[in-house]
Amino acid sequence: MKINTLLRKIGFLEKTYNETIVLVNKDIMMPLGIYVDNGVFYARVYKGSKLYNYLSRPRMNNELVEAYLCIPSTPLLFYIVIFEKNKVIPIEKRGLICFKDCSACIKCNIQKIRVERESYVIKLTPIKVVVLKKMPRVYHRFEHAIVEALVYYTKIPYVSRRKALEYLKKILWCREIVYHSTYSRKYRRIINNIVNRSIDVYNSVFNNKKSKITGK
Ligand SMILES: Cc1cc2nc3c(=O)[nH]c(=O)nc-3n(C[C@H](O)[C@H](O)[C@H](O)COP(=O)(O)O)c2cc1C
Repeated sequence: MKINTLLRKIGFLEKTYNETIVLVNKDIMMPLGIYVDNGVFYARVYKGSKLYNYLSRPRMNNELVEAYLCIPSTPLLFYIVIFEKNKVIPIEKRGLICFKDCSACIKCNIQKIRVERESYVIKLTPIKVVVLKKMPRVYHRFEHAIVEALVYYTKIPYVSRRKALEYLKKILWCREIVYHSTYSRKYRRIINNIVNRSIDVYNSVFNNKKSKITGK
């Protein structure tokens, strides 16, 4: 099967952010949205991440970097990659490097193609796709609410105080969704951890004793 057909079959959509986890050098790992435009894969890597720092090294200007895109079999992998990196050890699967909880893995080359004020735009060229899991999974609202909360959490340090407050409210709304859709203590603990971490980041970035948020 042609690589583009396979990528479409595993769910990559045109003109859409396709959420993946990128892995570079086995030690840089982070959720990354891949935007597909006319079959070409692009992503924006924001300041503050290890990948941004890696791409900032002088020789990275023309160089192709080998990377792996993991398609998580559970959205909770996004949480683990951000908060519990020590729990995800990259492993080799059919010649590619990925994680245990991946349903597919894509080997690709990445190249920095544009430098912007707060980010780099990179182009990704898929070289090989390996499908690892075919078992269907039930849709859970709480998982997607957790991913949304994570996205807002990672943005808080880089936006204005007003925007950050807006994000905190959105994160609390995500907690509502989690609480409405699962009684599992495990997942409620996860969303509460994101809420608490978000409040901590907010307070440390916009540290103003008068308006300190306590979460109570
Ligand atoms: C679902 C999801 C998608 C994300 N997409 C991007 C992205 O496209 N570009 C980016 O720079 N950061 C993105 N982020 C935020 C980074 O993954 C986050 O800053 C990461 O924790 C940085 O990792 P590091 O601190 O180990 O370098 C995303 C986060 C989530 C939860």
